[in-house]
Amino acid sequence: MNERILQLRRELHRHNHNYYVLNKPEITDREFDELMNELIALEKEHPEMYDPNSPTQRVGSDISTDFVQMEHQRPMLSLSNTYSREEVSDFYRRTAEALKGEDFEVCCELKFDGLSISLIYEDGVLKRALTRGDGLRGDDVTVNVRTIASVPLQLLPDSKYPKRLEVRGEVFMPWRSFEHLNEEREKAGEPLFANPRNAASGTLKSKDSRVVAQRHLDVLPYAVMSDELPLEKHEANLQKAKEWGFKVSDAMTVCRTMEDIQNFLEKWEAERKNLPMATDGVVLKVNDLRQQTFLGATAKSPRWAIAYKFQAERAKTRLKAVTFQVGRTGAVTPVANMEPVLLAGTMVKRASLHNEDVIKQLDLHLGDWVYVEKAGEIIPQIVGVEPVAENEQRGEKIAFIKECPECGAPLIRYDGEAAHYCTNEASCPPQIKGRIEHFIGRDAMNIMNLGSEVVDKYYEQGLLSSPSDLYRLRLTKWDDAWWLSKGEFSPSDLFGETKGNTPAMLVTQRATQKVIEAIEASKSVGFDRVLFALGIRFVGKVVAKTLAYHFKNVQALREAGIDELLQVEGVGQGIATSVVNYFANRENARLVEELMAFGLQMALPVQKSLGDILNEKRIVISGVFKFHSREEYKEIIEQYGGKNVGSISSKTSFVLAGEGMGPSKREKANQLGVPLMDEEQFCELLQLEMKTE
Ligand code: IVH
Repeated sequence: MNERILQLRRELHRHNHNYYVLNKPEITDREFDELMNELIALEKEHPEMYDPNSPTQRVGSDISTDFVQMEHQRPMLSLSNTYSREEVSDFYRRTAEALKGEDFEVCCELKFDGLSISLIYEDGVLKRALTRGDGLRGDDVTVNVRTIASVPLQLLPDSKYPKRLEVRGEVFMPWRSFEHLNEEREKAGEPLFANPRNAASGTLKSKDSRVVAQRHLDVLPYAVMSDELPLEKHEANLQKAKEWGFKVSDAMTVCRTMEDIQNFLEKWEAERKNLPMATDGVVLKVNDLRQQTFLGATAKSPRWAIAYKFQAERAKTRLKAVTFQVGRTGAVTPVANMEPVLLAGTMVKRASLHNEDVIKQLDLHLGDWVYVEKAGEIIPQIVGVEPVAENEQRGEKIAFIKECPECGAPLIRYDGEAAHYCTNEASCPPQIKGRIEHFIGRDAMNIMNLGSEVVDKYYEQGLLSSPSDLYRLRLTKWDDAWWLSKGEFSPSDLFGETKGNTPAMLVTQRATQKVIEAIEASKSVGFDRVLFALGIRFVGKVVAKTLAYHFKNVQALREAGIDELLQVEGVGQGIATSVVNYFANRENARLVEELMAFGLQMALPVQKSLGDILNEKRIVISGVFKFHSREEYKEIIEQYGGKNVGSISSKTSFVLAGEGMGPSKREKANQLGVPLMDEEQFCELLQLEMKTE
């Protein structure tokens, strides 16, 4: 059986490479799935055969990751930048002079717009993936990188790769995946990523590798490093990397003259628009590794390379009007409405103006000719106004509004902030919807299947005007149709005089049933998350947890004064004032009462005598567990008065060590004299259940 597992792994690695790197699948998706399913089943039967580099691990796992920082084998430098062709010529001339007339080649490559990654291979197996970090130390994101299909987990057998190899490259999100992701986020009412780079970076740092697996990141190598590189030229070694199993960009030319280089710049300045991923320039590198070493580096960047950045695309058009949008937090954003103009392949007619200061800085007037740019950003920006002659008539000066365009309430601009907010928190429609969306969010009450569009619809039908209304929703079958109502459904409400007393709407049974079930299930969500769900200003996830464990129940928190709140570690004046103000507001106090009456958790569960057995203990969790998930262990540690910390230090009390804890962590714990406790010991200590599935 073990042999079959190994054989399936080999085959699946090869098919992955055929599909994702070579673009030449040899088998159908269905055949691939069959092999994969067989492997999944066998690995389940044989847990002793666990291998983090198995193709089954590409789907990610629910083990949450607190990233450990690790040192780079060689520092990760950055590049000096230029926007001008002349400076590229200067670079060429400088290099020629430094090489004292020796012949040299320049490898021109595209600069992919994502974030850099260092991949460490030992004996052909991916051992570690680190982000750039500060150039000397980066975050260990191996679990996430393993899910990226074009990264070989195992180099191709018999391809003569170096025994110890580092491949550096750019992790990016292709346009298609980026657009798809933002569409999904828009539907769910989640904030959009401004550009593929932010999306790639946010994704790579995700704590849940399953999320990474779903988002379709890609990697293109731009450097290979080893003490035993096969060839002496940079480009030739990158081509070798193809043989080892990497996907390497074809947009790469070895140039021998300045003219060749300028042709490359010209060609890609135009053609980059047709590429499936974002690029922000061209990187020029002296091709010969010996010459690279000779030229050396400054503290920040190598002397043998330079990045030429593409000009952001810019267009000129006329400002027609400025409108104001109220977001779900109550923040008001000015939006420029312009004569439509073609920019980077799309018609642009709106641009964000961000805030009052931006409008003032631009000295915007109606009818002005404005310059619009798209610089890696998806949302176009107004970057300037065409100067006007002194005596020229201009339209009206743009002024920031004083009242909310949604509800008419006065706006406020807090000291030190650039944004204006609508003051009518209680009944301004976008704010009500925003509060409900926050309440049901994944990290709050986790009421899934209820996206922002559905919240909007329920709000408009009068079914939802506060988070507590969620618990009033009823699903009833009447007249062969399904009705969702606020409170008990009564058909007479649909007709005649009582019409509308109990708002109701026609729904599909299956989807709505799921929503109702999720609402019911949310009643067991812990007190700290309920506290976070309330959306108290400045009370994020971490603060909510701190407050919950300190005060233990909502009564105690409600009664706490500013001074008492300030005693809590991590609570400053801003948070303390915000909490006191929240509970002093009658509407809020009523909401909390209602939620309590509906059975939501407004206190921590009462603990047995074990209560604070882990009091003040700082515990690192590492490895894979069988009895409870890593998330559960985190919660348990906090319930028993301990603190879960990310990395091992001399202050760590002990490491809760699961299977497969990394050797570097083990070594560090050893060095610092931090004890390890295995899963069984930990469960015994706290009298936790020890059952697998
Ligand atoms: S070479 C010593 N080549 O751009 C510097 N970098 O601004 C080695 N990048 O950190 C970098 N495409 O993340 C190089 N073809 C390419 C690149 C590239 C994108 C990124 C990389 C680097 C940043 C420097």
